[in-house]
Amino acid sequence: MIYSRIAATGAYLPERVLTNAELEKLVDTTDEWIRTRTGIERRHIAAAGETTVDLAERAARRALDAAGVAPGEVDFIAFGTTTPDLIFPNCGVLLQERLGCYGVPAFSLETACSGFMYALSIADKYVRCGDAKRALVVGAETLSRITDWKDRATAVLFADGAGAVVLEPAAAPGVLSTHLHADGRHQELLYCGSGVSKGLSLSPAITMAGKEVFKIAVSKLGSVVDETLSANGLERGALDWLVPHQANIRIIQATATKLAMPMERVIVTVQDHGNTSAASVPLALDVGVRDGRIKRGDLLLLEAFGGGFTWGSALVRY
Ligand code: UT7
Repeated sequence: MIYSRIAATGAYLPERVLTNAELEKLVDTTDEWIRTRTGIERRHIAAAGETTVDLAERAARRALDAAGVAPGEVDFIAFGTTTPDLIFPNCGVLLQERLGCYGVPAFSLETACSGFMYALSIADKYVRCGDAKRALVVGAETLSRITDWKDRATAVLFADGAGAVVLEPAAAPGVLSTHLHADGRHQELLYCGSGVSKGLSLSPAITMAGKEVFKIAVSKLGSVVDETLSANGLERGALDWLVPHQANIRIIQATATKLAMPMERVIVTVQDHGNTSAASVPLALDVGVRDGRIKRGDLLLLEAFGGGFTWGSALVRY
């Protein structure tokens, strides 16, 4: 039996840091409101001309370096993003060209904030069936390009960044299970209304009914963590770490409560990163691994929820 395991992680954040104090000058908001309602204190914003694939390449190289895998040895690229550089070629292929692993399958998928969870689930299955041996799984975004900087409901939330993991075959799991879901009935609550077939906008912007999204996010994340524990015969409290999607500290706290986990066992980066959509979980994972909190052998639950709606989780023995 072949399993997949995370060989290493990597991440990259753009240099420019945008603080809540600066946002106070852009929209009718306060640092106090943003911190208490979301947990966000600052976020990173890509420089002019810096693209999603630019961020992803740096994160990917850091993950490959930590795994001891040469970029040319990657044999599978799954890339989650909602803010691709181009309509096509897809971001997976653009990244492949940068890394020089020509000829291997490379694709991106657009499942919003759960993009990394979907990409991880697919890559896990390719490694487990023997078709991939050094799979690169990426979540990267430049959400600042689809943010309306005059809309206080969204401008204070979204940000840019990239995270990546290298998956390799292993005799023991690794990735124990993944759980993916989608429900298209609530599209109007969270979307970006610009597209090729429907018509391109020169200034595409995220639209969100925050309060409604909040309630559904808490409910669906609660169900998916239950599903994950139950699929693995685990009790609440069995996990070493929760590595959640970083949209709002209050959503994270609700999921931690559901899992009976103290916040000390939760990797929280929302204060520094804001909501980076598909990049959020791999960014948080990389922070936890590199600062030494997450250790080899630890049991992790990764989860995300986003536009669509889409949501998903993974139980991982690191
Ligand atoms: O990652 C994808 C999934 N996304 C999410 O999970 C996000 C889910 N939603 C949220 O995180 C929260 O709903 C928000 C952070 C977006 C909003 O927090 P909330 O506690 O749900 O606030 P609200 O929308 O109910 O607004 C409360 C008040 C309103 O004023 P009134 O009507 O009470 O007078 C808003 O107009 O806060 C006002 N408000 C703001 N005030 C200052 C809304 N945005 C702001 C702002 N600054 N930026």
